[in-house]
Amino acid sequence: MGRPKILVTRRITESALDRLHEEGQVILWDDQLPPSHDQLTGMLEDCEGLLCLLTDNIDRELLVSASKLRVVSTMSVGFEHIDLETCRNHGIKVGHTPGVLTETTADFTMALMLSVSRRIPEAIHFAQSGQWKTWDPGLLLGQDLHNAVVGIIGMGRIGQAVARRIFAFGSQLLYHDLSRVKVIEKEFNAEAVELDILLNRVDIVSLHVPLTERTYQMISHPQFETMKPSSILINTSRGAVIDTNALLQALREGKIAAAGLDVTDPEPLPHNHPLYKLHNCFITPHIASAGAATRAKMANMAVDNLLAGLHGKPLPNPVA
Ligand code: GLV
Repeated sequence: MGRPKILVTRRITESALDRLHEEGQVILWDDQLPPSHDQLTGMLEDCEGLLCLLTDNIDRELLVSASKLRVVSTMSVGFEHIDLETCRNHGIKVGHTPGVLTETTADFTMALMLSVSRRIPEAIHFAQSGQWKTWDPGLLLGQDLHNAVVGIIGMGRIGQAVARRIFAFGSQLLYHDLSRVKVIEKEFNAEAVELDILLNRVDIVSLHVPLTERTYQMISHPQFETMKPSSILINTSRGAVIDTNALLQALREGKIAAAGLDVTDPEPLPHNHPLYKLHNCFITPHIASAGAATRAKMANMAVDNLLAGLHGKPLPNPVA
């Protein structure tokens, strides 16, 4: 058997790429922006392996046209961009990169939470723009994280890592998930509640659910009506878990106090989007897992999955 053709849809950590070069003929898409659907289709012809990112739409049409494809390995924990059913029907194995990004993503969630609750972006702008004239008892007052009631929606790996941090801050913890996570309740004194009760009681809410039909726009107009006007919404999961138009309206009308978003719908959010203009909305460009060491681990894990699949072995991290 010849060396398999492998498509890699963006430049990844060099050591991970080298491992692929050793095993196969690598086609590397070396642009800063993702390939178009047509470009992907063209490049994927004759490829047996695909290492992709969450920006690539691996849909039915693409999978069906790639007749030799045996493994799809995404360098992300999320896999909603891949048509799993078609992969299953065509015997294509699918892998992802869970676990290695959990703590990094949880760290970033805390950074965003504190930035928004203590108004750090505004404060930096205030100082930089020459407005700092004196110490002022009423200047840039924010919301404490200690003693706050914090709600976590989605108590999976990342939700639990955030829960641990929230507990260490001395905040009260509520959570909502499809199933009870007793260990979190015991260790961090967390209370499991229904979604509307959580939204109604918390000062800060953080989203940690995967994007599925069930979670699509789970935070929309009725949910914003339930939330406290002083509350803060943090999203480091997937943009489409929130109804963007409903969020815009809620922020404009003061139905909630502020939002911190590392993910948006659409993504990227166009630079002229009204959310950027709001003083109470803080947006970062989907970087929650962007620790240097973590991204290298993700790249190598994606390569582990790809190579295992090409060698006909079980993937170390198959999607569920
Ligand atoms: C990032 O959002 C990921 O799914 O890894």
